[in-house]
Parts: sequence; structure tokens; C-alpha cells
Amino acid sequence: MRNSIKVFAPATVANVVCGYDVLGFAVNAPGDEVVMRLTETKGIIISKITGDGGKLPLSPEKNTVSASVQHYLNHIGKPDFGLDIELHKKMPIGSGLGSSSASTVAGLFAVNSLFDNLLTNQELVPFAMKGEELACGYGHADNVAPALMGGFVLIRSYEPLDIISLPHPEDMHAAIVYPEVDVPTKDARQMIRSKVLLKDAVTQWGNVAGLVSGLFMKDYDLIGRSMTDVLVEPTRAILIPDFYVLRQLALGAGAIGFGISGSGPSVFALTKDAETANKITEKLQSHLKGLAINSLSFVSEVNKKGPVILD
Ligand code: HSE
Repeated sequence: MRNSIKVFAPATVANVVCGYDVLGFAVNAPGDEVVMRLTETKGIIISKITGDGGKLPLSPEKNTVSASVQHYLNHIGKPDFGLDIELHKKMPIGSGLGSSSASTVAGLFAVNSLFDNLLTNQELVPFAMKGEELACGYGHADNVAPALMGGFVLIRSYEPLDIISLPHPEDMHAAIVYPEVDVPTKDARQMIRSKVLLKDAVTQWGNVAGLVSGLFMKDYDLIGRSMTDVLVEPTRAILIPDFYVLRQLALGAGAIGFGISGSGPSVFALTKDAETANKITEKLQSHLKGLAINSLSFVSEVNKKGPVILD
């Protein structure tokens, strides 16, 4: 068994507009890094967190990385195993890009690699969901499953968990812009209505099926016209400055589709190439600058690998 390991895990775009809690994909950047070392003493400690501005807890029970790694250790019958964890946040917290998920997935992938891959990445999903539960009160899988498995992922069912990897057009890119306003996932989940009209549900499941079909058929038009959300986006859009203006700018600059990434405030567009994606991030960032809102942008292909060992 090696003594230490350093792992990167990717950010993710959850929901993909119409698939609240059931669709997500991973991107190459940003992402988080975890360094894990074996220790002689019993139990897990978080010795260092960087890049979080002091926001994340060092307490092993409260931190999503250590808490999910502890679930893993309990599962494999090594509850007292000694580990020292460093977490290096390389992406904004509360951005809608699966920040807690990237950290948790990096930690789980690291510990599972130390134990010679006792579980597959897909089998790690339930442990990562425990981290999401700790972070936002509900163990959704649409960030952690694509972060662990790479690519586009469908959570067909939660009970029992049924996760399907989906194909995607090879040249597809994501243009992501994070306006620096605060939208905690917990709050963004609480504001959604728990009851929906049947006619809206019909529209929504038509779009989810259309998006999945479009990914299989590599049909950009079908993907684009399916990226419509009548259930969640109308409520959450108010949290994002000038959301509908940003949408018009993105679609006008050649986006296939546009929407909120996860619970926001990040927004994303899918495009057919990197050039269009870059044009879109420039337009959106310049509009936000006009509103005196700082923003970050990321352009990426769909990430295929999930977490990787760096060292
Ligand atoms: N599906 C989750 C939500 C993703 O929309 O709340 C959170 O990033």
C-alpha cells in the first residue's frame, strides 16, 4: 500500500437545465485536489484546507471529504484507519459547479486508490452522496456521479440507485460563467415548489427524454430545444443577475442551449466548439461587468475521465 496520494476531481454541471437532480456532466476545469497520507494514529484528521477563505470546517465529522471517507472506511471494515487529509480548493464555493462534490469525490477516489480500488467509481457514488447530504441537506447524485464517472450521467432512479452513463457529441463544449453573488444550494433547493402541475411535468419529461435522445443521436438541434426547464428555472432565475439577458446574449452568440448550472449562480451554455464557447463567456462577463458584478469563466470539453491521480 502506498503512503500518500494526490488526487484531482472535476467540477460538474448538474441538472443540465431540464433534468433537476437526474442529469449532470463533468468538465475538465475547474476542480479540487486532495492530498491523503497514512498516519500511525487512529482516525481521520483534516490538517489543512487552502483556497476556501476559511469557510470550510476542519472538524472531521463536519467536513464532507472526511465524513464520506469515514463512511467508506466503516464499509470496508477499517473504521479506525489513520489518515491525514489536505484539501486544496481550486474552485469557488457555492458556485453551482459542484464544489463540495469535487472535494468529496477527490477524497473518496484517493482513499479507494490507497486500498487498491476495492470499489469501482460507480460504487463510490452512495458514499459521495453522504457528503452532499452533509453539505446541503439532501444526498443528490447529479454532481457526484459525473464527477466520479466522467462524461454525461443520468440518475434514472434514486431508490434503488440506477446510474447510466450517456454519450455526447465529441466536439461539444461548455461555456461557464460564475457571477460572484452568493447562492447557497440549501436555500436554492428550499425555494422550489414541491408540487407541480401535470401539464408542466409532461413538458419537463418530454424535454428530459429529448435531451437524452439528442445526446445519443448527436443531434445538436434536439439537444438545444430540449434544454428548457418549466419547473425549477423560473423560480431560481431571480437569484441570478439579468438571467434572461444572459440567455439572450448566449443564444445570440451561437449557444445550442443555456441555463443555470446546478443550483446557480453559475450559468452555462453548450456549444459546438471552443471558439463559440469563448465568445459567449466574453459577452456574458462583459455584461456582468456593466452591472458591477465580478465573474469567473471556464471553457471546457466534457470531461471523460472523472478523478485522476496527480502524484
Ligand atoms: N440538482 C441539484 C440542485 C444540484 O439543483 O439543487 C446542486 O448543485
